[in-house]
Amino acid sequence: MNIADRLEQLRVQVDAYLAGVYQGSVPQRTLYEAMSYSLVAGGKRVRPILTMLFAEAAGGDADQALELGCGVEMLHTYSLIHDDLPCMDDDELRRGKSTNHVVFGEANAVLAGDALQAAAFETILSAPYSAEVRAAAALELARGVGADGMCAGQVLDTEGEGNSLSLEQLRLIHAKKTGALLECACVIGAIAGGATEMQISAARTYAAQVGLAFQIRDDLLDHISTTDALGKPVGSDDSNQKTTYYTLLGVDGCETQIHVCTETAKRAVRAAYADSELLCAVADWLAGRMN
Ligand code: IPE
Ligand code: IPE
Ligand code: MG
Ligand code: MG
Ligand code: MG
Repeated sequence: MNIADRLEQLRVQVDAYLAGVYQGSVPQRTLYEAMSYSLVAGGKRVRPILTMLFAEAAGGDADQALELGCGVEMLHTYSLIHDDLPCMDDDELRRGKSTNHVVFGEANAVLAGDALQAAAFETILSAPYSAEVRAAAALELARGVGADGMCAGQVLDTEGEGNSLSLEQLRLIHAKKTGALLECACVIGAIAGGATEMQISAARTYAAQVGLAFQIRDDLLDHISTTDALGKPVGSDDSNQKTTYYTLLGVDGCETQIHVCTETAKRAVRAAYADSELLCAVADWLAGRMN
């Protein structure tokens, strides 16, 4: 199977799993509908794909890691719902559809995000692995998305609105708001696959570099892409007066940084894993992505 087909196969597996959760008739049907609405809206599924591929690269089984990856994707989906709220980026389009609060109202969107965060941990802690692996994965996620990780990045990002930030400040924000969860995705997969300390450390380096490249591309696309191509509004950063890599470095500077980060990421996994071809292919895909 070629690389594109393999990545597509993983994406389909993730979509199928997520389409099956939070269905059924319950009194809190609105909450289930709001959660499911954002979960099945599509998206690239980068994070669960990375979890499954790191599990495989470390000597484990990609299919077995499906629930772990889907847990990370649930966490990501919660972060998007909250990121789009009027009190945050105030956006009305996500994954080509009206944002969660536009459809279900703000209270339900907040609660759908809250419940998806809990669901992420429940899914990881119920995955088909030993108690030790499940606990290590849950701990990794808790550390990555909490007060020193993703939420820290979102607070610094919000506080930065209207101020001109230095490249160093922006790098920290990007590392936390985007890099931290990507790191969880990669490291949880590596742990599940039985990675050595050296391989886990390489997963962290890969994720940090791919994560920075990913958010630089996101900043760039917010300026040069179209709403149709992205499925989310372009110009969101400008309307919120955010300093971004685009505003600091321009198109060429962003492209150079993305290239440097991507090559560093690939070097890290090539040195640590016997077969890193798919991980390198994902880094290249994300570097050049158009949505
Ligand atoms: C968007 O993430 C939020 C950022 C961290 C930039 P993605 O670009 O992975 O969004 P989906 O999951 O494909 O919709
Ligand atoms: C989002 O960053 C990061 C998180 C959701 C944690 P952005 O605000 O740049 O993401 P988009 O552009 O809305 O997808
Ligand atoms: Mg934001
Ligand atoms: Mg946003
Ligand atoms: Mg953005």
